[in-house]
Amino acid sequence: MPPHRTIAAAKQKKMYAVHFHRAVLLFCITAVCSVTVLIYIQLPPGFRLVNFISNDGAWEGDLRGADFAWNKLYFNGDSPPPAVLRIAVFSKKWPTSSDPGGMERHAQTLYAALAARGHHIHVFTSPANPLVAASLSYTNPVIHFHDGEPNNWQYEKAWEMFEEEDSHRKFDVIHTESVALPFRLAERLPNLAVSWHGIAYEIMQSSIFQDLIRKPDEPQSNDFIRTLNETLPKLLKEIRFFSKYAHHVAITDSCGEVLRNVYQIPSRRVHVILNGVDQRTFVDDPETGLKFRSQIGIPQTATLVLGVSGRLVRDKGHPLLFDAFSKLKVRHPDVYLIVAGTGPWGSRYRELGSQVLVLGSLDPVRLKGFYNAIDVFVNPTLRPQGLDLTLMEAMMSGKPIMASNFPSIKGSLVVDDEFGFTFPPNADSLYEALELAASEGKERLRRRGLACKKYAAAMFTAGKMALAYERLFLCIYNESYCFYP
Ligand SMILES: *[C@@H]1O[C@H](CO)[C@@H](O)[C@H](O)[C@H]1NC(C)=O
Ligand SMILES: *[C@@H]1O[C@H](CO)[C@@H](O)[C@H](O)[C@H]1NC(C)=O
Repeated sequence: MPPHRTIAAAKQKKMYAVHFHRAVLLFCITAVCSVTVLIYIQLPPGFRLVNFISNDGAWEGDLRGADFAWNKLYFNGDSPPPAVLRIAVFSKKWPTSSDPGGMERHAQTLYAALAARGHHIHVFTSPANPLVAASLSYTNPVIHFHDGEPNNWQYEKAWEMFEEEDSHRKFDVIHTESVALPFRLAERLPNLAVSWHGIAYEIMQSSIFQDLIRKPDEPQSNDFIRTLNETLPKLLKEIRFFSKYAHHVAITDSCGEVLRNVYQIPSRRVHVILNGVDQRTFVDDPETGLKFRSQIGIPQTATLVLGVSGRLVRDKGHPLLFDAFSKLKVRHPDVYLIVAGTGPWGSRYRELGSQVLVLGSLDPVRLKGFYNAIDVFVNPTLRPQGLDLTLMEAMMSGKPIMASNFPSIKGSLVVDDEFGFTFPPNADSLYEALELAASEGKERLRRRGLACKKYAAAMFTAGKMALAYERLFLCIYNESYCFYP
């Protein structure tokens, strides 16, 4: 072998060796990193290096340092609270109709539960229909309707009533539902918490998906253009003024993250408390489900029954479900879709023929029948602001869910693949998810549903939500209550 080739070969050998060493080194670094990452990922969110974890795995520490949902913690609802609080609440509306919105339902459920625990609650809200207001003669919560037009919120008037009441006896804690109390007043109150039910950042994200489902020949609506135009300035404004509120309650894990990371609110002032639904109203009751099926005329040969409920409007994703189910029903003549709720898409669904049952809005008894009659609850929403109550109701009723893969949904509801299916909000992906559910069959879906029920019963009960809020209010009232357990 000529000398120069030997040298070249030796050089090459050396280079291989160097490469090999680098490769080993790289491999080791990667391995160490992956292990670290794996450990990091496998810890439940919030348990990440935040605080001391005791031997039995229970969390201990300053609750203000917790970045996970407080619903994960155990609170003893059997013993009375360590202190009875006087709590003022600002809410633009108080539910007086039979069909209140999500935010009002949240407020009503929460304050009824806190009053039942013995706290003294005063709600400051807009005028109701006089007849309704007269019928609300509770002593706790006390509802202070300011004067003026029904449902026309004027915070100055509410603030006056609050000051009057506060001058008799100081409130321990003040809570505002979103911006009912604007920051110029709120910033004076160190013992105030605000619960955010939908923020501009989430509106921006949902605007993106709403526009992406537009067909090529479909114009943007004027309302939508206005929203687009207003959202970015609104977001910037929010980032500037949100920090003026002392304590923030995010009602989803993802909202908590956005408040900390995008809105830059100090972590110790951001607390995640998921909403709750009434565990007595939403129960797993297969017999009721079967009865409901036969009442509405679903044949016993049905292989799969899907359900959707809520307002039947475009931004709840009904165009997606309409397209996807049109395809699915041809391939699966024994699959049915039950549609509960009202809105423009109701009549469109009727066009799909006998595999779709459009029921209109349901009273609580029929709603229970509805949830129990279905195999999967579908919610293709394009606008998940806050936490969708219907998803929690379905899970509480023991049903797996199929929902858009927004961070709020993946971060707080479908936190385990077992709980159902998430899909990017477009008709093709929804169709794929529907096919997958159809191929799994109802026994498999039933097991998923039971896993949902277990999780919901631990996390989303109204009682759990109320106890978590109670603990937050105690912590705001006196720091010694911030230390858990
Ligand atoms: C968009 O916002 C700007 C500034 O706020 C306003 O002048 C303009 O009229 C808005 N355009 C539309 C289409 O709403
Ligand atoms: C807070 O609570 C602790 C323990 O109950 C008590 O010792 C302390 O005086 C309280 N502080 C205030 C400011 O009320």
